[in-house]
Amino acid sequence: MTLAPRPRTLLLAALAAAAATAAVAQPAAAPAPTPPADFSSCGFCHEVKLGAAASLGPNLFGVGGRKAGGLDGYDYSDGMKKYGQVWTADTLAAFVLDPAKAVPGNKMDFPGANDAASAKAIADYLMSLKP
Ligand code: HEC
Repeated sequence: MTLAPRPRTLLLAALAAAAATAAVAQPAAAPAPTPPADFSSCGFCHEVKLGAAASLGPNLFGVGGRKAGGLDGYDYSDGMKKYGQVWTADTLAAFVLDPAKAVPGNKMDFPGANDAASAKAIADYLMSLKP
């Protein structure tokens, strides 16, 4: 009877492989770039993963290089639609530092980052969210 143990051996091998895959997949599933501590408040309203649906605010994955107010299917304010700029490290930092001043009439309920260094760190992080 050499055939009997085989299915079990295969099953154990499959389970071991699945366990190994799960162990490896854990860190890989986390977002590659690490957000700065100050980004935590943004996370209440924004997803930052490829393909994630909008929450209160639009998904910010791939926001760098995107036209402001340009994510299909998100209901932007008129202010954001009129802004007309492309998001770069500079436009993002200005918006994050003082949203109301940078994009008048926007509907993002956030007063602004603590200081320019914090805004820059957040902007650099957002620019790194690319496929
Ligand atoms: C209370 C919820 C809320 C918080 C907190 C918040 N946002 Fe927003 N955000 C929004 C909403 C709503 C919009 C859409 C604004 C509009 O249409 O005027 C938006 C828009 C944006 C946009 C423009 C996106 C696009 O597709 O053009 C960026 C960039 C952005 N937020 C970054 C941030 C960052 C960075 C933080 C943290 C520093 C933050 N937001 C915190 C709700 C929020």
